[in-house]
Amino acid sequence: MKVIVLADYEAVSKEAARLVEEKVSENDQLVLGLATGSTPLGLYENLIDGYKTRGISYQNVKTINLDEYLGLEKDHPESYHTFMVEKLFKHIDIARENTFIPDGQPSSIEAECARYEKVMNRVGPINLQILGIGSNGHIGFNEPGTDPESETHVVELNDSTRKDNAQFFNSIEEVPTHAITLGIQNILKSDKIILLASGKKKAEAIKILLEKNVSASFPASYLWNHPNVTVIVDEDAYQLVRQKQ
Ligand code: F6R
Repeated sequence: MKVIVLADYEAVSKEAARLVEEKVSENDQLVLGLATGSTPLGLYENLIDGYKTRGISYQNVKTINLDEYLGLEKDHPESYHTFMVEKLFKHIDIARENTFIPDGQPSSIEAECARYEKVMNRVGPINLQILGIGSNGHIGFNEPGTDPESETHVVELNDSTRKDNAQFFNSIEEVPTHAITLGIQNILKSDKIILLASGKKKAEAIKILLEKNVSASFPASYLWNHPNVTVIVDEDAYQLVRQKQ
C-alpha cells in the first residue's frame, strides 16, 4: 500500500484526477470504478476541467459504481444515479450506456444483485477503482463484519453511516436503511485501487487502516490483501498517524 500525504483536499483531488487521467490516456477503453459521497467531488470537478480544458475524452470509458441506496427512485435528488449524472456524467462526453449503477428500486433485490454481478463479469474487471472510506472503515457500503469473499449484496446501513449521510437529507429518518453494494471480493478484483480521504473526521479511520490489522471489523483493512493500492490523504486525515511518528 502506497500512502501519499498532501496538504489539503484540493491537492488530494488534483492528484487523484492526475492518476485517473494518466490511466485514461494510456487506455481509452478504461473501466473505472466510481464512488459517491463528498470525498470524490473535488476529483470529479478536476476530471470535468480535464475534459473541458485538457482534451481528455471519456467516449469509450466505462464506469461501474460501487453502490446505490435501496428504495430511492433513480431521479431522487439523493440517489447515487442523480449524484453521478449531476456531479460528473452530464459534464463529460461519456456515453450513458457505458455507465453502470445498481438499481435502487428493483422488483427483486436478489435478481438485481445477480444482474449487477453479471455486469461486473461482462464489463469488468475494473482497471482503476476509486474509493472513499467511512468513518467506521466501510468501503463501498461494506460495513464492519462483511465477509471478505462477498460479491454484490444488500446491506443494512449502520447507524453511524446513516448519521454521517444524514447531512445530504432533510432528516436522518429520510436516509435509506439499506443499500446494494459491490462486495469486498469485487473491489479486490480491480487492477488498481485509489482510496481518498480528507479532513479530521477521517483521521481515526486512516490511523486504523495504516495499523495494518486485517480484520472484518474494519473492512478497509482488506485492502492490505491487494497488491496495488494507493491511499491519498490530506494532512488533516493523516494527523493521528503523524502524532505517533
Ligand atoms: C459511496 C461509498 C462510501 C463512501 C464513504 C465516505 O459510494 O462507497 O463508501 O465513500 O461513505 O463518504 P464521504 O466521502 O461522504 O465521507
